[in-house]
Amino acid sequence: MKTNRIIVEVEGLTKSFGKIRAVDNLSFVVYEGDILGFLGPNGAGKTTTLYMLLGLVHPDSGRIRLFGEDLRKDRISLLRWVGAVVESPDFYRHLSARKNLELLNRIHNGRIDSTRIDEVLALVGLEERAGDKVKTYSHGMRQRLGIAQAILHRPRLLILDEPTIGLDPEGSQEVWSILRQLVAREKMTIIISSHLLFEIEEFSNRVCVIDQGKMLTCDFTHKLLQLSQPVVEVEFDSPEERQNASELLAQTHWAEVLNNLTPANLPILQVKLQGKTPKELNKFLFDHGLIASSIRPIHQNLREFFLRITQKDKTTQL
Ligand SMILES: Nc1ncnc2c1ncn2[C@@H]1O[C@H](COP(=O)(O)OP(=O)(O)OP(=O)(O)O)[C@@H](O)[C@H]1O
Ligand SMILES: [Mg+2]
Repeated sequence: MKTNRIIVEVEGLTKSFGKIRAVDNLSFVVYEGDILGFLGPNGAGKTTTLYMLLGLVHPDSGRIRLFGEDLRKDRISLLRWVGAVVESPDFYRHLSARKNLELLNRIHNGRIDSTRIDEVLALVGLEERAGDKVKTYSHGMRQRLGIAQAILHRPRLLILDEPTIGLDPEGSQEVWSILRQLVAREKMTIIISSHLLFEIEEFSNRVCVIDQGKMLTCDFTHKLLQLSQPVVEVEFDSPEERQNASELLAQTHWAEVLNNLTPANLPILQVKLQGKTPKELNKFLFDHGLIASSIRPIHQNLREFFLRITQKDKTTQL
């Protein structure tokens, strides 16, 4: 099986601010074409890590390799291949989007061809308003212009720190659709932090979760969301049947009834199965005179997963 190229490799990264250890021995890898969701509670160390990847904060120890090269050795030339939206983007507000991009091109010594400006404006959906002054733009349009600035020089790695913060659902949807296009059309790799877990769940193929500067987990999104033991939701016609089923299943060693998950007056049970399939559960109930009107698997969502592992971290060491 073909494995993708490694774009970012972080090993043992550590950074303290006075007594606060913001990033603590962090290691992870980002592959080409990834949209990596970088998650963690407030103060977990996400921004500090992203700043270190961008060479804006110097690590106390550890190593960062971008595109296979050590960031310390070749900082300036490596960062040419990186774009970022890490704070509210800066613009000349009295100038248009197009003029802002032209000025940015001058900073890149005019290396960017003029068609790239049109291409980028179209990509972020600003072509029709490209001649208007930025101060007349909505928050969503400014975020998109921020992305346009970050990708003007065709970076291979794009780093975004909470780019959808404060956007309405349509605005965030637009940002995500741009990011997807960048991966598909421009072969970019993206690292994105966000507290909007349903977005990360939908759009990122891999997720790293950190807390108190430490890595809790880092894997494919779908893998993290697979439950080690399947939970099914079993629906009956009446709360009495539910009660009978609950008592029956409590006597088995292979079904755990998660009573706390559904209100008692609903005819629904959530059952965690160990070594039995939903079909076998159905037959078992039937053999005991209980007919389920439906049995469907429940998928854990990223929010539940996130809360589970970040809260676990407060009481036990993983
Ligand atoms: N320049 C700094 N000086 C002192 N402490 C800092 C500095 N930058 C970050 N910290 C501390 O480092 C820790 C990690 O902060 P960081 O901003 O990286 O977290 P975060 O995961 O991005 O949080 P949030 O989700 O709130 O953005 C926090 O305790 C923060 O107070
Ligand atoms: Mg932050």
